[in-house]
Amino acid sequence: MIHKTVLITGASSGIGEALAWKYAEEGYRLILIARREERLVILKQDIEKKYGGHVFNISCDLSLPDSVHNIYNIVKKENIAVDVLINNAGFGHYGAFCESSVETMTKMIQVNTMALMQLTHYFAADMVKRQSGHIINVGSIVGFVPGPFMAMYYATKAFVLSFSEALSQELASKNVCVTVFCPGPVASEFKQVAYGVDQKHAMHNTIPSSAKAADTIFYAMQKKQVINLFTFSNHIILLVLRFLPRAVIRRLWRIARKK
Ligand SMILES: NC(=O)c1ccc[n+]([C@@H]2O[C@H](COP(=O)([O-])OP(=O)(O)OC[C@H]3O[C@@H](n4cnc5c(N)ncnc54)[C@H](OP(=O)(O)O)[C@@H]3O)[C@@H](O)[C@H]2O)c1
Repeated sequence: MIHKTVLITGASSGIGEALAWKYAEEGYRLILIARREERLVILKQDIEKKYGGHVFNISCDLSLPDSVHNIYNIVKKENIAVDVLINNAGFGHYGAFCESSVETMTKMIQVNTMALMQLTHYFAADMVKRQSGHIINVGSIVGFVPGPFMAMYYATKAFVLSFSEALSQELASKNVCVTVFCPGPVASEFKQVAYGVDQKHAMHNTIPSSAKAADTIFYAMQKKQVINLFTFSNHIILLVLRFLPRAVIRRLWRIARKK
């Protein structure tokens, strides 16, 4: 049996970890990427125990400039063709722009946009040669609006949305699909990282699980959707936003952030 291969960034927790389980269940070989090696090792052991030996871990920090080049070289050396690339790794930071550390924001741009662009560039070129493949970028509903007090995070997700939509059109004739997944809140470690709070207190129990997000991403891939908004409420939000002037939208968002 020939297994397809998926490369998932940010697989050590949240949506990425759930994606690893979902794609393993669907018979894919996995390449998992994140900084926390010990988490990846446990995940690999657990998945291989349940589904067999098809997990390859690469522990690396995507905020470092050479990281993507190194990942690509490792994958090439192993002679693995990546059929599905999922750029999921990302983080947010809450706080006034001028009071936030420039290092944190630079890292955010590196992880959320630069590494995503570079991984896409390397692996899309191979997909185009093979005339087959799928790139899935995890954006956010916040990519549609400006976000006072999370300005950089929202801007990185606007990049992901615009870039993914454009690329979907460039690659359509090459039989390479691009999907951008744009969820609202999902239960994961995101809030803990972005707000520096204990997630047990931060998570509302009505928030959809990472497993649900992973199932939806797999479905969006199968259906070759360009944009997936995850929830019905996100469709309503976008519909309402369409009728509001941008000046109103950015003020509403600032008020929503209680600043
Ligand atoms: N949860 C939400 O409410 C929500 C909503 C909309 C969009 N999203 C997006 O969903 C994606 C996944 O986030 P999540 O919600 O699953 O949060 P999460 O549980 O915090 O997972 C983030 C993942 O990104 C990885 N990562 C962060 N910095 C990295 C770096 N420098 N190098 C390599 N990997 C790095 C983390 O691994 P290590 O720390 O081990 O490196 C972790 O595996 C992100 O792009 C996020 O922006 C989340």
